[in-house]
Amino acid sequence: MKFTILLLIAFDLLFSSYLSNKSCKECHKTIYEEYQYSYHSKGYFKDMLHKKIADKISLKKYDCAVCHMPAADNLKSLVKGEKRPDKTNVTNSDAISCFFCHTIAYVKKAHKFNLNIKARQSEDYKPSLFGSLENPDDNNKHSSLHSPIYDKFVCSGCHSHKRNGNDLLIFDSKMSGSKECIKCHMPLVPGGNENMNKRARTKHHSHYFPGIHSKEMREKAIDLKVAIDKKSGVVVTLINKMPHPLILQAAREMFLKVEIERDGKKIWSNSKDKSAVFKYSYLKGDKPIIIPYSATSYSFVNNLKPKEKKIFNYKIDKLHKGDKVIISFYMIFAKTECLKDIDYMESGLDKPILVKKIVKMVK
Ligand code: HEC
Ligand code: HEC
Ligand code: HEC
Ligand code: HEC
Ligand code: HEC
Repeated sequence: MKFTILLLIAFDLLFSSYLSNKSCKECHKTIYEEYQYSYHSKGYFKDMLHKKIADKISLKKYDCAVCHMPAADNLKSLVKGEKRPDKTNVTNSDAISCFFCHTIAYVKKAHKFNLNIKARQSEDYKPSLFGSLENPDDNNKHSSLHSPIYDKFVCSGCHSHKRNGNDLLIFDSKMSGSKECIKCHMPLVPGGNENMNKRARTKHHSHYFPGIHSKEMREKAIDLKVAIDKKSGVVVTLINKMPHPLILQAAREMFLKVEIERDGKKIWSNSKDKSAVFKYSYLKGDKPIIIPYSATSYSFVNNLKPKEKKIFNYKIDKLHKGDKVIISFYMIFAKTECLKDIDYMESGLDKPILVKKIVKMVK
């Protein structure tokens, strides 16, 4: 109990000295601009998929705020349903803000989801921001503190795992550290980290946070290998190259498509193979439910574990010389049933996006 009271005090103090995303632009222009493209900058007001799902769940409480609007000065009221997200409140519209990430002091592990514990800020002095620069230059807006905890845990407050109210696991990244996440999702890019660059730094960590919305990143996610045997058929090996599961987000779907064409006509496909479709489906009691918020169990689960390899052995009789074998891997941002459920078909987010394709002729 004592601990929670302390925490709440820390929260109150923190927000009395909140610095908006926009205020960072004055000195960290490049990082600020990268961040505008990042999904961290979107949240309730700019990521319509998120807003539509949140509103479908409840038009009263917005408990997604703990991860999607964590800088909110009215966080408790949002979670309880006493207040709605407010576009004119910068701590609401800033989404996963610069200031929020850079004031995480440590992450408390918890069963339902982890908690970001914020650094205590004093009201009458400039805020302290954490990072991992050696000898940071001084400036008049904030002090810079080197925090070893920072790059170890900073991603795991929101990205580790999440359980719904019925204790059902909604996502699990299977990773707790942050160093690895930063290597792939915040690659070093040329340029200093602030406008003056008195230290003549040559690189900074990209704040574009490339992920599933980046074409280059999607291509890095998987590997496809194909072996064709005229007598026995086609063997496809799919490898999840990521250190986290293939599907991280309940709305997503991915699938492997194998087709065979002869003289320009499709003569075979794997369209009936459910094991080639990666997604989650849910039940509430014994009724199918699309949004997992109030689900009680799964009705269908097909995912690949970190680094897992899956072999698809398709027995196809009598392949001919010259038959064309087309192997493609697709991802979908939001399943059609999900878009129907939230009345958002016009977004087209259920259109399959090609990730990788291999075409081979039977010899
Ligand atoms: C424990 C933290 C946490 C909570 C609570 C949370 N989310 Fe998320 N959400 C995430 C993370 C992290 C991602 C990034 C993708 C991933 O890891 O799968 C995400 C991604 C999403 C996406 C995909 C965004 C896109 O445009 O592709 C949707 C939709 C979403 N969340 C909806 C919700 C809704 C609605 C709620 C509240 C009912 C909620 N989330 C609560 C952490 C959380
Ligand atoms: C008045 C200019 C100015 C403003 C405004 C400013 N910064 Fe900085 N910041 C700096 C300078 C200068 C450095 C040191 C850069 C260096 O040494 O290369 C720095 C360093 C940092 C670091 C690295 C700290 C470390 O110890 O590794 C972080 C993180 C940071 N700023 C975040 C922010 C955020 C977030 C905002 C907006 C809320 C912001 N800054 C606003 C000037 C500014
Ligand atoms: C305060 C919570 C929070 C923290 C801390 C956090 N994230 Fe996120 N992250 C989210 C949420 C929520 C989303 C989904 C936003 C959306 O799509 O609307 C997300 C999305 C992402 C994405 C998806 C980008 C895409 O293309 O869709 C990546 C990659 C990511 N985060 C990486 C990181 C890394 C790396 C760290 C640590 C340096 C980190 N995040 C820290 C909450 C957080
Ligand atoms: C070896 C590189 C690598 C590391 C390390 C890594 N990821 Fe990823 N991650 C990827 C790639 C590639 C994608 C994009 C392809 C995809 O999602 O299918 C991705 C996708 C994501 C997404 C978007 C998923 C979605 O559906 O919205 C999130 C969120 C994410 N990673 C978070 C993390 C976090 C958190 C960590 C650290 C615990 C981490 N990643 C570590 C390579 C990596
Ligand atoms: C999701 C969390 C997150 C958000 C949001 C975020 N940062 Fe960072 N930032 C990091 C991490 C992680 C690092 C790199 C730490 C390391 O060195 O390993 C970093 C590094 C920095 C640095 C030091 C330079 C460098 O390349 O290491 C500055 C300056 C900085 N951020 C400013 C900002 C500003 C300004 C914004 C908003 C426009 C912002 N950050 C938003 C997590 C975040």
